[in-house]
Amino acid sequence: MTKKLQVAIDGPASAGKSTVAKLVAKRFGYVYCDTGAMYRAVTVAALNKGIAVDDRPAVAELVKTVKITFKPGDPDQRVFLNGREVTRDIRQPEIASNVSAIAAIPEVRVAMTDQQRAIAADGGIVMDGRDIGTTVLPKAPVKIFMVASAHERARRRYVENKKKGIATTSLADLQRAIELRDQKDSTRKVSPLVQAPDAIRLDTTHLTIDQVVDKISEIIEKKRDQFQ
Ligand code: CDP
Ligand code: CDP
Repeated sequence: MTKKLQVAIDGPASAGKSTVAKLVAKRFGYVYCDTGAMYRAVTVAALNKGIAVDDRPAVAELVKTVKITFKPGDPDQRVFLNGREVTRDIRQPEIASNVSAIAAIPEVRVAMTDQQRAIAADGGIVMDGRDIGTTVLPKAPVKIFMVASAHERARRRYVENKKKGIATTSLADLQRAIELRDQKDSTRKVSPLVQAPDAIRLDTTHLTIDQVVDKISEIIEKKRDQFQ
């Protein structure tokens, strides 16, 4: 039987991880898991309860009660916070600007990492995030570190927000917000955004979505052959 691999895709905001991960998962019949959506959902839970995102003890208590689940959806996977749908809520700019603070809290990382490992346990998974190849699935046989220039990433997110009707200020503001989030994600103490030593770096600045999907698919196929 063909071995079902774990595929880890990490990188900064808007590098194309989720778009590509979803398509790769579809091509191989694997499950897709958007771990960023999980941190965003915890942020929704905190803000809904009026908990400050840097109030570590309160957030640590809260995260014990949080369970994130997914259901297939089109174009976006549907995300549920303790059974309540938050698919749209998690994409709001207020969540984007608060999520890095929540994601830096060690208790939040432990709780989410546990849930992510349970989702990935049987293999046949494409998981995207910031620390999948380094912390969540350090033994994943396929690890991709996806990057693109900050300008291109802001442009992509700007177009995407417009299409989805999500309020956005200017392209320059969006680039600043993305760079600030990258900086917070890369410099935090626990599970920062760094390339795993055995990850393949893929710069998507000048690549189309299909080209990136093809490149990752080739990498998976090669690895799969080694596991036969
Ligand atoms: O889609 P976008 O790149 O904007 O971000 P995301 O993947 O939805 O992740 C939102 C935030 O969650 C990131 O900026 C990180 O602060 C955090 N995150 C994380 O810390 N670890 C992960 N594995 C995934 C996301
Ligand atoms: O998950 P991540 O934040 O890394 O990025 P994404 O949400 O998958 O991609 C952000 C936007 O860039 C989406 O609207 C994609 O359609 C677009 N994109 C692109 O234009 N070209 C690529 N090579 C990859 C993504």
